Amino acid sequence: MLEVTDLNVSYGAVNAVQGVALRADTGKVTLVLGANGAGKTTSLRAIAGYHKPKSGSVLVDGVDLAGRRAHTMVRNKLVLVPEGRRVFSTLTVEENLRIGGYRASRGAADATIAEVYEQFPILADRKDSQAGLLSGGEQQMLAFGRALMSQPKVILMDEPSMGLAPTMVDSVMTKVREIADGGIAVLIVEQNADAGIRIADDVAVITRGKTVWNGAAADADKAAVHAVLGESAFDENA
Ligand SMILES: Nc1ncnc2c1ncn2[C@@H]1O[C@H](COP(=O)(O)OP(=O)(O)OP(=O)(O)O)[C@@H](O)[C@H]1O
Ligand SMILES: [Mg+2]
Repeated sequence: MLEVTDLNVSYGAVNAVQGVALRADTGKVTLVLGANGAGKTTSLRAIAGYHKPKSGSVLVDGVDLAGRRAHTMVRNKLVLVPEGRRVFSTLTVEENLRIGGYRASRGAADATIAEVYEQFPILADRKDSQAGLLSGGEQQMLAFGRALMSQPKVILMDEPSMGLAPTMVDSVMTKVREIADGGIAVLIVEQNADAGIRIADDVAVITRGKTVWNGAAADADKAAVHAVLGESAFDENA
């Protein structure tokens, strides 16, 4: 569904990403691991059309869309759930969802909102609340719901568990798994390797801007990932 090869992205003279290869398949969760500054966020933003890559290919359903802007990527069924959730805090939950579905007709958006409420009952309960009043975990669910409003086939997620209490981390990860099981290709960056590997099918490890390991989650044994990422990858409290 998504196949990224030899992605190169720079900030001026800094080559932040140089040789990233990633793939995400329908119905599967691909977990991206890497130390701080490895280039994970840069890769996701370049794939989703928020930062133009220097070179590389981004195949969505076999079509190379590298370098297209974010709205074009959304139209082509690829959407990013950014780091830090970025909900519109003064708007209500439902208004946030409508923004995610802005391309659809009113009727189509209503139908999709109903589906999102079914998948995230907490959002239905809070639909008239200001998004800024939701807990961190609820805001993350809203960020997922908003992404689903564009009816994507590929969702990129940048550290959805960041800053959440350990019990919330589990609910968020369970939702990530459910989203993939609903027939979407999920590519997720997660600092909490243990929590991520539990729900992932495949794993990619990025070190200094380059993919250095790719394989099934079952083969991403702790020792190997540990060797690349160091102690911090496994938070015993999570
Ligand atoms: N706007 C920017 N301008 C210049 N350099 C940047 C910018 N954003 C990121 N970088 C640099 O690019 C490299 C990759 O950063 P990136 O944020 O992609 O890493 P990351 O893997 O997401 O890290 P983290 O785990 O901390 O989120 C780092 O060396 C970082 O300092
Ligand atoms: Mg990052």
